[in-house]
Amino acid sequence: MSAGDRVQVLREAIERHNRAYYALDAPLIGDAEYDRLFAELQALEAEHPELLSVDSPTQRVGAAPLPEFAALTHATPMLSLNNAFADDEVAAFDRRVREGLASVGAVELGNEVNYSAEPKFDGLAVSLSYQDGRLLRGATRGDGSTGEDVTANLRTLRSIPLRLQGSDWPAVLEVRGEVLMLRSDFAQMNERQREKGEKEFVNPRNAAAGSLRQLDPRITATRPLRFFAYGVGVAAGTTAGLPATHSELLDRLAAWGFPVARERRRVLGLAGLLTYYAEIGRQRSALPYDIDGVVYKVDELAAQARLGFVSRAPRFALAHKFAAEEAETELLDISIQVGRTGALTPVARLKPVFVGGVTVINATLHNEDEIRRKDVHIGDTVVVRRAGDVIPEVVRVLPEKRPAAARRFSMPQNCPVCGSSVVRSEDEKGERDVKGVAVVARCSGGLYCPAQRKQALLHFASRRAMDIEGLGDKLVEQLVDNAIVRTPADLYQLGVVALAKLERLAEKSAGNLLAAIEKSKQTTLARFIYALGIRNVGEATARELARHFGALERLLAADEAQLLQVPEVGPIVAQGIRQFCSEPHNQTVIEQLRAAGVSWSESEAAAASAGVGAVAGKVFVLTGALPTLTRDAAAQLIIAAGGKVTASVSKKTDFVVAGAEAGSKLEKAQLLGVSVIDEGQLLAMLQAGPLAAPESQ
Ligand code: IVH
Repeated sequence: MSAGDRVQVLREAIERHNRAYYALDAPLIGDAEYDRLFAELQALEAEHPELLSVDSPTQRVGAAPLPEFAALTHATPMLSLNNAFADDEVAAFDRRVREGLASVGAVELGNEVNYSAEPKFDGLAVSLSYQDGRLLRGATRGDGSTGEDVTANLRTLRSIPLRLQGSDWPAVLEVRGEVLMLRSDFAQMNERQREKGEKEFVNPRNAAAGSLRQLDPRITATRPLRFFAYGVGVAAGTTAGLPATHSELLDRLAAWGFPVARERRRVLGLAGLLTYYAEIGRQRSALPYDIDGVVYKVDELAAQARLGFVSRAPRFALAHKFAAEEAETELLDISIQVGRTGALTPVARLKPVFVGGVTVINATLHNEDEIRRKDVHIGDTVVVRRAGDVIPEVVRVLPEKRPAAARRFSMPQNCPVCGSSVVRSEDEKGERDVKGVAVVARCSGGLYCPAQRKQALLHFASRRAMDIEGLGDKLVEQLVDNAIVRTPADLYQLGVVALAKLERLAEKSAGNLLAAIEKSKQTTLARFIYALGIRNVGEATARELARHFGALERLLAADEAQLLQVPEVGPIVAQGIRQFCSEPHNQTVIEQLRAAGVSWSESEAAAASAGVGAVAGKVFVLTGALPTLTRDAAAQLIIAAGGKVTASVSKKTDFVVAGAEAGSKLEKAQLLGVSVIDEGQLLAMLQAGPLAAPESQ
């Protein structure tokens, strides 16, 4: 056998053993034997460097460090799941599913639906792209549309196949799943950290996140990370066809070499879901990994496609979470935090307590009314709750443990930061206390208040807004306190000289910060709108606004009636936007930002303005099974709106409308850089058309 052939044999054998060990939990050989195969492969590759390849198992030791992670746009967005805690929320989900399917004649209303039920891994979502069975790229979830390219790090995980097993996989395959650390591995790793006198990790989730997001893959290679697959993002170019159900898809993933949850099960109807939940709840503490609930998915893939998505979550799936963990501790004091919009939030300072996997020292008390309702006194023993990434909160006090010296708390009359008077404005949700008094206390200082200014800057720089890496709390604090920066626009006037005045900012970090600020100038309209920090305009609304208006000028000029036509925008949001845009101070800052070079690409603006009567004159290609429309019906709608529908994708195609199991047309669109939209986006374009078109037509 030639060296080349032997190398192939060894690589295949090692991958097979990885699968046996990681995916099947049934090793075929012992460690010594495995090490022998590995050593033989290493020796052969050393002798014949021409045979080396990135997908050799020997390359899992980690490649050279990167200066930063590149951004990777997901072929289809990585969405989140709607959450439920109570049984009746699960019942409502099941009802919506049955009604949704019955309305399109997919099931009889009375019939029970088959679900795939799985543990909800408490790790980090990643996507893995395979081309012709070989691992091509891997990315974190990021904001759902764009993640970070962590390919080099993911290659170091032995539970991730570098080459797929078998041959019935689609040529283009994107597998989604979770990276996590097993509890046993986490404990061992911390043990080693302790022995070395190094910092221990707080919990497996943080350890996994920290390990995956290392710029040096050689560090990731030393961390015991595991991957578990739970779904498929894109599958195209298959000859063998894909299974009809999600549970079979998971089986198929296992056959291709991916670990999938052993605890997965196909269950029938609501009763099946609730039984599964109770069962997994009982097993929870004995499972090899942390989970924070279970996930239910309609099993039939065609039914999933029919149900589709609302906003950012699928209608066909639900996360049923476990109740958050609680612990008792002492409330040492209550301090006030001033938020971005001036809202004063009372914060409980606690005697440190370990709950929900971390040590908690602060917890929110929401507002003054909550403090009264829960009758919280300083000095009380309180119950603190923390779930996942949610901010810890004080749930209730234990009055029987109240010491004689316990004191009441009252909101200050003046802002503790800037001294401006505190006003009680109506809460956004119109919440009022029992006496009809609005519950939100706000500092009236606006951007005069340094606390509000700092928060506004932090928000502006945050990852999902302008993404200025390195501009954190400490730095913003110094920039504002030293009157170097007052508004976001001032950031773009910063130079090394100004930064040199700051304490503890090394020259290199100053350089990095300036580079990050420079880089942030190239952004998207949606991010820019979000970054402005308009009250009640979150990411999703900002995206809708960008899509609807297409150009910032149009948004700034829009009146309330025009704003109300945007999805996600109601009267309160519209009013907030109007107020913001008519404020001269804000107009100046926006002008200064644009003058400093903050911009977004024209094509993005054009794509964003797609909502503005853009179907007319545009060329569409339809592919895959759309969730609610037949392709014929979609074509008729497009043609009625003045668009064109063609059969094949070319450079002349403006949009590819892709549904479930879209095939080669989707691939071609991606290859040519043609915009790919889903049915929801198409419908939005069709709806927005004549209504929102400004002067045209
Ligand atoms: S399915 C369309 N299945 O939960 C959404 N997600 O809130 C597809 N997660 O970030 C998600 N275990 O990383 C799915 N068995 C499971 C999961 C799971 C954990 C995470 C996932 C995502 C989050 C969704």
